[in-house]
Amino acid sequence: MQDPIFGWIEAERRRQEEGLELIASENYASPAVLAALGSVLNNKYAEGLPGRRYYGGCEYVDEVERLAQERLKTLFGAEWVNVQPHSGAQANEAVLLALLKPGEKLLSFALAHGGHLTHGSPLNSSGKLYTVEHYGVRPDTYRLDYDEIREKARTFRPKVLLAGASSYPRDWDWAALRSIADEVGAFLVTDIAHPAGLIAADLLNDPLPHCHIVTSTTHKTLRGPRGGVIMMGKDFDNPFGELTPKGQPKKMSALLDSALFPGVQGGPHMHTIAAKAVAFGEALQPAFRTYARQVIHNAQTLAHTLMELGYTVLTGGTDNHIVLIDLRNKGLTGRDAEKGLEKAGITVNKNLIPYDPNPPLVASGIRLGTPALTTRGMTESDMRQVAHWIDQALTHLSDDAFLSRLREEIREYLKAYPLPYATVASLSLGHLSAPAE
Ligand SMILES: Cc1ncc(COP(=O)(O)O)c(C=O)c1O
Repeated sequence: MQDPIFGWIEAERRRQEEGLELIASENYASPAVLAALGSVLNNKYAEGLPGRRYYGGCEYVDEVERLAQERLKTLFGAEWVNVQPHSGAQANEAVLLALLKPGEKLLSFALAHGGHLTHGSPLNSSGKLYTVEHYGVRPDTYRLDYDEIREKARTFRPKVLLAGASSYPRDWDWAALRSIADEVGAFLVTDIAHPAGLIAADLLNDPLPHCHIVTSTTHKTLRGPRGGVIMMGKDFDNPFGELTPKGQPKKMSALLDSALFPGVQGGPHMHTIAAKAVAFGEALQPAFRTYARQVIHNAQTLAHTLMELGYTVLTGGTDNHIVLIDLRNKGLTGRDAEKGLEKAGITVNKNLIPYDPNPPLVASGIRLGTPALTTRGMTESDMRQVAHWIDQALTHLSDDAFLSRLREEIREYLKAYPLPYATVASLSLGHLSAPAE
């Protein structure tokens, strides 16, 4: 008898197929990425780095990790990378561990304005270990104010200035942030977990030339496996005076490598590293740039159509894949909107808006994102339809019969936009052949 777990996997695949996926941090990875994830590389321990492992039998996984590193370097123009972080949280944890001693100062984007838990929340190790201050967005424009960040940095004197967000719909001015970091003697670190794919496609400002260190996830706009990476545009002598056994200054890359393993993690997940390599290879294809451009066009069309329908879109639009909606003028909370939309087969997440009068589990807004629907092949005309469905659902939140009719209409519509994979059974590894000996 088949293990029922595969029944649940198939049910989840069907859920992903039949609904409108608008969670900004989600995407549909390709069959090749999923095949690498489900491969025998799962079985291999490979603590250490290629050519310098603590285990035997690493000749093939060394090649896999080297390829992942080389592709990632090419994708972002990075001189140095580490592809081993299990996820975005571990990448951030390792970078902060390498740069800060307990009690030292971190200045980051406020969680309540769109930042991330791993950027100094009291609930996360970053908030428990380090002394944290935040900058936020202006109350009138909901945009970052670089003068305010400079002022905060001048008074707080952080050792790390951390940029990056989970829900900020606008691009970042990396050069301005670097000039602030240089003025106060801080390291500039950014977490591009969300827009990484759009940056890789050269559609947003490039942080690599400006930031000392860049972290990312690999599963959002980058469309790979769940995972993280750490990158540097240029490696540099670490400023903490640590020397190698030969008396040379240790490079920052060496500190980051050892902060990740053994500082934060144990053995690297080689199946995930293989899947990262596949995804980076896909992102290097010209088709990925076309995809990323469409992600942005779709988000902009979604934002504009919702504004035409009377919704308050924060900042008046978007530069990336994220659309943030303040629902207060519609008399709705984020929690009620999320629940009602789900009944119609539209998956979003409730989201705090900056200066939100509601607590996080209620929230006044919702966050929408276009990476997943764009992977299904949707374009601007589909986004206009999606905006109208969102509006219809939100104006009939207490009419369950209406919402289930809408769910059926959406399910029918989506048949024209198949997922990049069909069924669990169709994920055969047969097409993968070993390289010639
Ligand atoms: C900006 C940012 N950094 C880090 C993370 C954490 O990534 P993970 O969930 O892979 O640990 C997220 C996830 O949402 C994120 O949005």
